[in-house]
Amino acid sequence: MSTYLVFGATGSVGRRVAERLAWRGAAVRATSRNPEAAKLPQGVEVITPDLGAPGALDDVEAAFLMWPFHSAERARPIVDALKRRVRRVVFMTGGGALPGVAPEEQPNPVARWHATVERLIEQSGMEWTVLSPSTFMTNTLWWSDQIRAGDSVRGAFGSLAMTPIHEDDIAAVAVQALTKSGHEGRRYTLTGPEVLTQAEQVRLIGEAIGRPLRWEELSLEQERARLLADPDFPDGFVDELLDGYTKMAAAPRPDVTSAVPDTTGEPATTLSAWAAEHTADFGGGQR
Ligand SMILES: NC(=O)c1ccc[n+]([C@@H]2O[C@H](COP(=O)([O-])OP(=O)(O)OC[C@H]3O[C@@H](n4cnc5c(N)ncnc54)[C@H](OP(=O)(O)O)[C@@H]3O)[C@@H](O)[C@H]2O)c1
Repeated sequence: MSTYLVFGATGSVGRRVAERLAWRGAAVRATSRNPEAAKLPQGVEVITPDLGAPGALDDVEAAFLMWPFHSAERARPIVDALKRRVRRVVFMTGGGALPGVAPEEQPNPVARWHATVERLIEQSGMEWTVLSPSTFMTNTLWWSDQIRAGDSVRGAFGSLAMTPIHEDDIAAVAVQALTKSGHEGRRYTLTGPEVLTQAEQVRLIGEAIGRPLRWEELSLEQERARLLADPDFPDGFVDELLDGYTKMAAAPRPDVTSAVPDTTGEPATTLSAWAAEHTADFGGGQR
């Protein structure tokens, strides 16, 4: 039986990809730096993420790849290892990598290293599909401490419009591209079903948990200080996030795409439905 490799299988999307494949009865090999703690479905083989290790790619027909690294240094060895053994790769890109723009012309380092991986994959001779998702709904968990503690979320860019996507919808598209033909050579821009400002997202989470929530706007400087003081938020990501939001705020409102329903045959999941799955993370209706 052919095997599917899921790289980054404990991540918010990779876990859903591994689960969806396992539930279909497929043979799944998944990577984690800590296989004992991976908590993946029974039957999933968990290995460390060294794709050059003996046996790592035995019988692998198709691989899901995401990029957890903070540079493109490992792009060539990883893509080379895959292309020697694997027929098909589905790569989840990110960081605002612009389609059709060379890595060196990309607007920021995160986009540059994702675009580098994209280019290597496209030149590899493997069948490839690139998934370019919008903001993950899981990012709203950054607000969970504030929501547990009070009725407002403090932050900058409350009117910033996004098209948040459920991580499981990304995984559903990935599984289609891994297991079915017809997606080769395609780069899908994946979005959720609605355009929502950050303030609207907070309101919808409030409705899901049965408690009115409001957005409290901070200046950019206040928000930078708040994030730097947050022990759970990586300091190195603060300016990257705020610079990204500044650029998004100056850009046209994003559009919803039909790539999720077109690929999976199911409508993309709303933020209200996602939030209903996560009420416990936000403290439910209790305080
Ligand atoms: N968040 C967003 O809004 C958004 C939007 C579009 C695109 N993206 C892109 O999505 C990607 C992140 O995906 P995600 O949120 O699903 O990931 P995640 O939840 O942060 O999980 C990261 C995964 O990578 C593995 N990992 C971490 N460091 C590793 C290393 N040094 N070597 C090998 N494996 C490593 C982790 O496994 P172990 O810890 O078990 O080893 C885990 O499975 C990024 O490329 C980002 O640019 C994000």
